[in-house]
This record gives sequence, structure tokens and C-alpha cells, in this order.
Amino acid sequence: MTISNTVYDCNILPLSKIHNRAGNITIVEGNSGVPFPIKRIYYLYDIPGGETRGGHAHKELFQLIVAASGSFDVLLDDGKNKKIVTLNRPDYALMVVPGIWRELFEFSSGAICMVLASQKYDESDYLRDYNNFLKFRNV
Ligand code: TYD
Repeated sequence: MTISNTVYDCNILPLSKIHNRAGNITIVEGNSGVPFPIKRIYYLYDIPGGETRGGHAHKELFQLIVAASGSFDVLLDDGKNKKIVTLNRPDYALMVVPGIWRELFEFSSGAICMVLASQKYDESDYLRDYNNFLKFRNV
């Protein structure tokens, strides 16, 4: 199987935001406003300074990545093109489509990286070796 998705298919999606003087709330509900049904949520936190997370691609999984607190950078790589996106607002999500290598780095102190995923955890969906990823992409 060859995937034709590119880093340019990974876009920033505005989420809801209800503001009042006592703070804000962002709601992600059912299938509304998000491009796929959400089957799993997980979050990364207590990330030591200077660490990198990710370093893999998925064959079929769609994800929305949100800086629920703090900030970090996401490197996206489709085997030909690369782009870096900085996430630093809890009411914006980065959609990562299948077949894209990603690395997360430059985590600020106290950053929380929340991920909304289209499927439950399945190790066989991961491409953890960069050369295997390039083969998968036919590069
Ligand atoms: P991994 O996806 O490699 O982490 P990251 O991309 O954030 O660096 O996952 C780290 C470990 O957690 C690995 O042993 C798999 C496990 N894991 C689960 O068991 N379920 C999950 O939903 C996720 C995302 C990871």
C-alpha cells in the first residue's frame, strides 16, 4: 500500500472556545467539528526539558494533537517534504493524517500534549523505523 498524503494535508483546525471572566472551556464533542470519530484520548506530560517524543508514523491512524498546556514543536515529514508546526494554544489542533513521520520536541516546562486518535492503540499500525517508513512511502 502506498500513501499519497503529504505534510500539506496536516493542517491546523480551530476548536471551540467559550470564554468568560472565570476562564475558558474548549469542547470536542462526538463527530461534530472534528474530521474523524474519536476512539482514544491520551496525553503526554512531565516531559523532561530537551526530550523528543514521537519518532514514528502510523499506517492508518488519524490524530489531532493539541497543546492543552504550554507549547511544543511538531516536525512533520512525508519522506519528501518536511514542516515544523508550533503548538501553543489549547483551542487549536494539528491534524496528522496517516503515513506522516512526526517528532515532538521543544516542550515548554509543564507542557501537556493531548492527542485525539481515530483508533484504539495498535502496535501493528506503527512504523517506528525511518527506513521502513521510507519504504512504506515508496521513497
Ligand atoms: P509511543 O507512542 O511510542 O510514545 P510517543 O510517541 O509519545 O513517544 O508510546 C510509548 C509507550 O506507550 C509504548 O510502549 C506504547 C505505549 N502506548 C500504549 O500502550 N497505548 C497508547 O495508546 C499509546 C499512545 C502508547
